[in-house]
Amino acid sequence: MDATALEGEARAAIAAAADVDALEELRVRYLGRKSPLKLALREVRDRETGMALNAARAAIEDALATREHELAAAAQAELEPFDVTLPGERSQRGRLHLITQTRREIEDVFLGLGYRVFDGPEVDTVHNNFTALNTPEAHPSRDPQDTFYVDENTVLRTHTSPGQIRSMLEQEPPVYVVSLGRAYRRDTPDPTHTPTFHQVECLAVDRGIRLSDLRGTVEYFFRALFGQEREVRMRTSFFPFTEPSVEFDVTCFLCGGGGCSVCKHSGWIEMGGAGMVDPAVFEGVGYDPELWTGFAFGFGIERIAMLRHGFPDLRLLWENDLRFARQF
Ligand code: DAH
Repeated sequence: MDATALEGEARAAIAAAADVDALEELRVRYLGRKSPLKLALREVRDRETGMALNAARAAIEDALATREHELAAAAQAELEPFDVTLPGERSQRGRLHLITQTRREIEDVFLGLGYRVFDGPEVDTVHNNFTALNTPEAHPSRDPQDTFYVDENTVLRTHTSPGQIRSMLEQEPPVYVVSLGRAYRRDTPDPTHTPTFHQVECLAVDRGIRLSDLRGTVEYFFRALFGQEREVRMRTSFFPFTEPSVEFDVTCFLCGGGGCSVCKHSGWIEMGGAGMVDPAVFEGVGYDPELWTGFAFGFGIERIAMLRHGFPDLRLLWENDLRFARQF
């Protein structure tokens, strides 16, 4: 057989193949098991013929591959015509969510004060979330109307305060921890509530800690985040795990204290609860309340972000609208 003639014929046919089906037929015809070339190769006796046939085979394989590429490129071009002279598209850079940014800034403030960052789980025991925090069995916060129960003994934590219990159980005093994370409550969303939210929990336990240390620490913290101008107010309050209990407010960023819908016309925005750790909580974790005193607070991170950036509705943080998210 004339290998050169065969190769020439095959190349011409392949170059003219109109589509992949035609190409596949040619592959079978020229390189298939029963093709003249393969049959001839099987019967080769001398080296020279063998080399000539193999060279023809390689050339045909090449031609097939080349045509295959051409057809694929043509098909692609038909799908989406590509104009290489068009300007490129700038790729979009991501960024950290405002809550993450705020969390990190708060952590930095407390790391600077010598606190340790503690991470507690979002799913915790009823014991850590309520009982160890001195919350009576009949307390309304335990109600399934307010709390997401996983089962009888397990909840989605309703605050970051169970982190206090966990961190005290894992170390001896003195304790200086800050714990930031998610908490969950069956709240109806409104401008200042969402069922999932974030808190920053702080706990300091040492010899001779006093309410004035709490106030000083919170003021330092608020000044670091909001600047010196913002006014801070401490009100008496009640929490089962603190005695005495207080609540901290800051002047409303939107109306400056005059009263508007964000501050529910009070001029103040609640930052959250605080107080001196109740001796019953210390006893529960094996700390001697005669030796140790401590303060704790738990503030909403969404509210902190809202105050710093002056947006009116914290549901915006959850909507993933890029026009909002990109501003931070
Ligand atoms: N856990 C309380 C809440 O979510 C806030 C709170 C109050 C935290 C007093 C504390 C505290 O650490 O001492 O409403």
